[in-house]
Amino acid sequence: MTLWETYYTPTSVEEALQLLAEHGPHARIIAGGTDLLLELERGMREAPVLIDISRVPGLDGIALDGETLRLGPLVTHNRLVASAIVRERAFLLAQAAWSVGAPAIRNRGTLGGNLITASPANDTIPPLIALGATLVLRSARGERQIPIREFYKGVRQVDLAPDEMLTEIRVPTTAPGERGIFLKLGLRRALAVSVVNAAVILRLERGGVTRARVALGSVAPTVIRACEAEGVLVGGPLTEDRIAEAADLAARAAVPIDDIRAGAAYRREMTRVLVRRALAALAEGREREGFPDHPPLLWGRSDGRFPRLAGRTVRHTAGGDEPIECTVNGENHVVRGANGKTLLRMLREDLGLTGTKEGCGEGECGACTIWLDGVAVLSCLVPAPRAHGAQIITVEGLARGDHLAPLQQAFIEEGAVQCGYCTPGFLMSGAKLLEELPTPSREQILYGIAGNLCRCTGYYKIVQAIERAARV
Ligand SMILES: Cc1cc2nc3c(=O)[nH]c(=O)nc-3n(C[C@H](O)[C@H](O)[C@H](O)COP(=O)(O)OP(=O)(O)OC[C@H]3O[C@@H](n4cnc5c(N)ncnc54)[C@H](O)[C@@H]3O)c2cc1C
Ligand code: FES
Ligand code: FES
Repeated sequence: MTLWETYYTPTSVEEALQLLAEHGPHARIIAGGTDLLLELERGMREAPVLIDISRVPGLDGIALDGETLRLGPLVTHNRLVASAIVRERAFLLAQAAWSVGAPAIRNRGTLGGNLITASPANDTIPPLIALGATLVLRSARGERQIPIREFYKGVRQVDLAPDEMLTEIRVPTTAPGERGIFLKLGLRRALAVSVVNAAVILRLERGGVTRARVALGSVAPTVIRACEAEGVLVGGPLTEDRIAEAADLAARAAVPIDDIRAGAAYRREMTRVLVRRALAALAEGREREGFPDHPPLLWGRSDGRFPRLAGRTVRHTAGGDEPIECTVNGENHVVRGANGKTLLRMLREDLGLTGTKEGCGEGECGACTIWLDGVAVLSCLVPAPRAHGAQIITVEGLARGDHLAPLQQAFIEEGAVQCGYCTPGFLMSGAKLLEELPTPSREQILYGIAGNLCRCTGYYKIVQAIERAARV
C-alpha cells in the first residue's frame, strides 16, 4: 500500500492553485512533510493527491515591510531561528521555532505547515497569536486575509477551503518598548511536544504596562488568549503581586485535558508557573537568556533554503515508472518504481545504500539522517519524488576513496560505536555540524545531535568523537 497515488511537484504558485482547484478534497499540499506523512501513515488523513510546494519560488521569503514582518509559508523553523530580522523584531517567534523538535526536523518543517496542522500544542501558533498575525490565503478564486485568531476552529480544524493554500503570514513586529518571550514545558529538552507553552508580550512605558498579550498552547482545543490575565497586567507597574495574580488568572483560563503527556491538573498548574516565569523574565529583561548566539542548524555552509526546480509541474504516480532523477553521493541516478516510497526506502531498496537506517520511521531517532541539497534532513519523512532533481549525500558518501572522513576515524578511535545502528545518523549530523561550526562548544555539539538517539553508548563517547574530529 502506498500513502499517495499521485505526487505533483509544481514550480509556481499558479500551478499549485490550479492543481488544488482540479483535485479539491482529494488533494493535500505537502511542504516539509513532517506532519503530513505521519498523518497519512497513521490513517488520520487520506490524500490520494499530494502537491509538493517545497520548491515553488517566492514562498520562503523573510522580509520587513515597514513594521510588518512578511513570512512565506515555506520558511523553515531553522530559518526563523537564524534570521536576524526575526530575532530582532519578533524574538518570541524565533524562540518558539528553536523549541521545535530537533535540527533535522527544523530544516524541513515549515512555519506554514505548523500553523495549518493546528495542533493546540504546536509551538509557533501562540507567538503569532500574541503578535496578532494575519494569514493570507489564496485559491484560483482569489485571495483573502484572516486574523490568525479567527483561523482556528477546533482541534486540528482550520478555516481553510480544500482549494486554498496559505501564501503569506503577516506579522506586526514588536514595537519600541515592547518585549516578548515564549516558554515551553516538554517532557525532555528536544523532540518534545509541548505539555504547556506560553507566549507573552508586554509594552512597558514609564514604569507601567500599557499593553499585554498572553497566549497559551496545549491547554484547550485551540491556542487561547488569557484575556483576564492581560487585563490585570495593564495599567500599573509589573510588581510581584500583579505577576502572581496574572499567572493565577492564566491558569484559570486553561481548560486542559488528561493525555499521555500530562494530567489536566498538572497542565493547569504548569500554566501558572510558566506565565509567572515569563512575566518575571520580562520584568527583569531576561527574556533572551539561554537563546544561543550561534545555534547549530545542521545546514553546513548553505543558507538552509532548498533549490527551486526548473521547468513546469512534474508528476509522479505511485505505481508508475516516471523517473526520479537525482544525484546520490556524486553519481547521477534515474530511479524507476520508487514513486510511492519514502526517500529512506528508495535509498535502501532501489539504490542498495543500506548505510542509512530505519529506527522509528517517525522522525524521532535520527538514524535515517541524510543531506538533501546540503541540508541535514530525515529521509524517513521525505517522499522519494521529493528527491527528483536533488543532490543527496548518504553515509556512504562521507569517506573519500579509501580514506574515512575525520569524524568516522574519530568514532573508531574513541570507541563511539557499540551496536552501530545509530552511527550513520550521528555521523551525518556530526559531520554537518563540523562543516558549519568547525570548533563547536560542548553545548553546540549537544544541540547538534539532539535529534539522534543511541540506546547503547551513553553518548559520552560520541560527543568525545565529535570533539576529537574538531581538533583534527
Ligand atoms: C519528531 C518530530 C518532532 C516534532 N516536534 C515538534 C515540536 O516540538 N513543536 C511543534 O510545534 N511541532 C513539532 N513537530 C511537528 C512539525 O515538525 C511541524 O508541525 C511542522 O512545522 C509542519 O510543517 P511541514 O512543512 O513539515 O508540514 P507538512 O507536514 O508538509 O504539512 C502539514 C499540514 O499543513 C498543510 N500545509 C502545509 N503548508 C501549507 C500551505 N502553504 N497551505 C496550505 N496547507 C499547507 C498540509 O496539507 C498538512 O495538512 C514535530 C514533528 C516531528 C516528526
Ligand atoms: S528518524 Fe527516521 S527512522 Fe527514525
Ligand atoms: S551504538 Fe547501538 S544504538 Fe547507538
